[in-house]
Amino acid sequence: MLFKQQALLRQKLFVLGSLAIGSLLYLVARVGSLDRLQPLCPIDSRFGLRGQDEIPLRALQFKRGLLHEFRKGNATKEQIRLHNLVQQLPKAIIIGVRKGGTRALLEMLNLHPAVVKASQEIHFFDNDENYAKGIEWYRKKMPFSYSHQITIEKSPAYFITEEVPERIYKMNSSIKLLIIVREPTTRAISDYTQVLEGKERKNKTYYKFEKLAIDPNTCEVNTKYKAVRTSIYTKHLERWLKYFPIEQFHIVDGDRLITEPLPELQLVEKFLNLPPRISQYNLYFNATRGFYCLRFNIVFNKCLAGSKGRIHPEVDTSVITKLRKFFHPFNQKFYQITGRTFNWP
Ligand code: A3P
Repeated sequence: MLFKQQALLRQKLFVLGSLAIGSLLYLVARVGSLDRLQPLCPIDSRFGLRGQDEIPLRALQFKRGLLHEFRKGNATKEQIRLHNLVQQLPKAIIIGVRKGGTRALLEMLNLHPAVVKASQEIHFFDNDENYAKGIEWYRKKMPFSYSHQITIEKSPAYFITEEVPERIYKMNSSIKLLIIVREPTTRAISDYTQVLEGKERKNKTYYKFEKLAIDPNTCEVNTKYKAVRTSIYTKHLERWLKYFPIEQFHIVDGDRLITEPLPELQLVEKFLNLPPRISQYNLYFNATRGFYCLRFNIVFNKCLAGSKGRIHPEVDTSVITKLRKFFHPFNQKFYQITGRTFNWP
């Protein structure tokens, strides 16, 4: 009798368990299909994709799955042919500035279904050895994408390297160029912090920031120090303007991208002629990291690597004041040229 009751109970538990698992599976499938219900018209009509509603969504999935495999070289020719995937030269390049937030910008733009990022910094235009390999080598470094998507790469060294503007111009004179900047002194300290960390990792000693940034003989700002030179944005931009009109550049406020990324990304979408598809849903603040992180959908999200958002060493206030005073006239010129004003001190 007792044995019979136990068997009955087991049977009931089995049925209830199956029902629970079934409901869970249904919910997962339902949530997974929610993205598909979003209106995809702006992109579809722009790129003549009406009737193929699922393409932008599939593109997002590829970013997480298939495309990643493709980038690693694991895709078969058959898969590439089946999906009509191509490797395209970039339509836009994030040319700098180092430590301005270039990785965050690239990753955030990659949330857009019409954008596909080149994951690695390719250093094609600033590295003579790479450049000598030719444009086909560069194209082959690009990720696979649908033909209606645009590829974006970032190599911050481009902004400060003499030969780069001419080389990019020769590839595509109408390319769109993105520059993300931060308050110049903060950027210089961030630059120093990165180098310092590298030295510490190798158990090497390094100078204090103050010693590098100020010339001990003159007690003036040391313009030979690379971290200082890189922050003189206007000097570099002026070299680029010999090849490209200012309309081909978009300046991103890197300080605002940290605190309030969405409006900055919306300005970039506009500049790239993309329909607005990145929303607040895609960006959530992670209190532990102290930064915004990326949400692709309910299950897939990520923060930037720990090397982004380092704690800066404390710098003597008199040195900071000196640097800010030094950068001031260059900043004014930069505002004037770009038409974008920042509240830098
Ligand atoms: P710090 O490390 O000085 O804080 P880059 O990618 O060009 O090297 O820039 C790195 C900087 O990106 C970081 O500098 C950090 O402040 C900034 N950043 C902007 N948005 C970020 C984000 N969402 N997560 C992490 N870092 C971000």
